Amino acid sequence: KPAANHAPGAANGRWDGLILGASLATLDCADGYGEVGNAALGWLDGLITYVGPRDGLPGAPEALAREVITTDGWITPGLVDCHTHLVFAGDRAREFELRLQGASYEEIARAGGGILSTVEAVRACDEDELLRQSLPRARALLADGATTLEIKSGYGLDFEGEHRMLRVARRIGEELGIGVRTTYLAAHALPAEYREQADAYIEEVVQWLPRLHAEGLVDAVDAFCEGIGFTPTQTRRVFEAARALDLPVKLHADQLSDLSGAALVAEFGGLSADHLEHTSEESVRAMAAAGVVAVLLPGAFHVLRETRLPPLASFREHGVAMAIATDCNPGTSPLLSLRQAIQLACTHFRLTPQEGLRGATVNAARALGLGDRGALRVGMRADFVRWKIHHPAELGYWLGGDLAGGVWIGGQRVHH
Ligand code: NIG
Ligand code: FE
Repeated sequence: KPAANHAPGAANGRWDGLILGASLATLDCADGYGEVGNAALGWLDGLITYVGPRDGLPGAPEALAREVITTDGWITPGLVDCHTHLVFAGDRAREFELRLQGASYEEIARAGGGILSTVEAVRACDEDELLRQSLPRARALLADGATTLEIKSGYGLDFEGEHRMLRVARRIGEELGIGVRTTYLAAHALPAEYREQADAYIEEVVQWLPRLHAEGLVDAVDAFCEGIGFTPTQTRRVFEAARALDLPVKLHADQLSDLSGAALVAEFGGLSADHLEHTSEESVRAMAAAGVVAVLLPGAFHVLRETRLPPLASFREHGVAMAIATDCNPGTSPLLSLRQAIQLACTHFRLTPQEGLRGATVNAARALGLGDRGALRVGMRADFVRWKIHHPAELGYWLGGDLAGGVWIGGQRVHH
């Protein structure tokens, strides 16, 4: 159990807020929930100033903080959704219907549907319209406890479209006060106008990157390395362009086949390899050695009715940190709750609810290279959620429902 700790000197000024009475799952520990019963959590200027038992507070609550809230339930760090494609237009419900009648995701993609049909819809939208369609998805994720979202481009596939998507991602952050990390995913699919010219398209992708980065629109770089995506050689070309700008990389790796994508991320010292259903033991070793986080996407696994599990035992054995994300996208994972993703990871991948919660907090923050969030610790961002539950295992248990009874980002309450 973490000892009571508070920022030196914080008791001199007054904290902005102090919550009393709830239990905490701090996750500020190597494993376990980091439970603190009958706890207190204080914050000032957006950062946590106190985490610990209520009776360890350095003074009377009313003297310590301007606002004192007494409550019950559990408080966890704000959830971090480290892999989403939530900026898009339209939907692919009709494609879902076709898949249920027997067509495979790959067949639909090869026939020009799939990702390319969303590209058409996105190209037809201006920035405001794209924002209008995307905001409700970000709001839904926030309402179920997500305080940081990673958002990818990848449905524009031309300079203007990618630019528009990344700008919309930034605007979502401003509009909702939520943390947003943007990822450049122009190497998501081959646009129709480059048919049979994948290498030429990749050269374009490499040219656009510094221009977008110069506008502050890119925090990381990703690609879809797959038979229906790009080859390892093309992916390497994109990663080299990222490295030239000191941008971290991540990858849609080994989802439908093993192209050693995860090992490629390791070679580049990347943040995460994502999906990983077909990742080999050798690649897992490379991930462990390079500290690459395994991002599990149980929503896509579920919706595509996959049967091949990621090498979970191997991740545990080699000490690869596992994160969980929604992969919120119109094709393979129309999933609007990270808590629901934890449930799917527990059900399909047999993660423990504890692994699930770590996967959507500490490990997800690591997958984004963020050291200032993902746990409740003095000095970290005051991003936290109060849950109407009796035990944190419930976060990996309920399907649906309304469990978030308050979401704070940087000490500001942003949801009831
Ligand atoms: O993470 N695999 C590629 N990208 C997405 C799917 C995108 C789409 O189908 O629109 C994924 O599953
Ligand atoms: Fe994805």
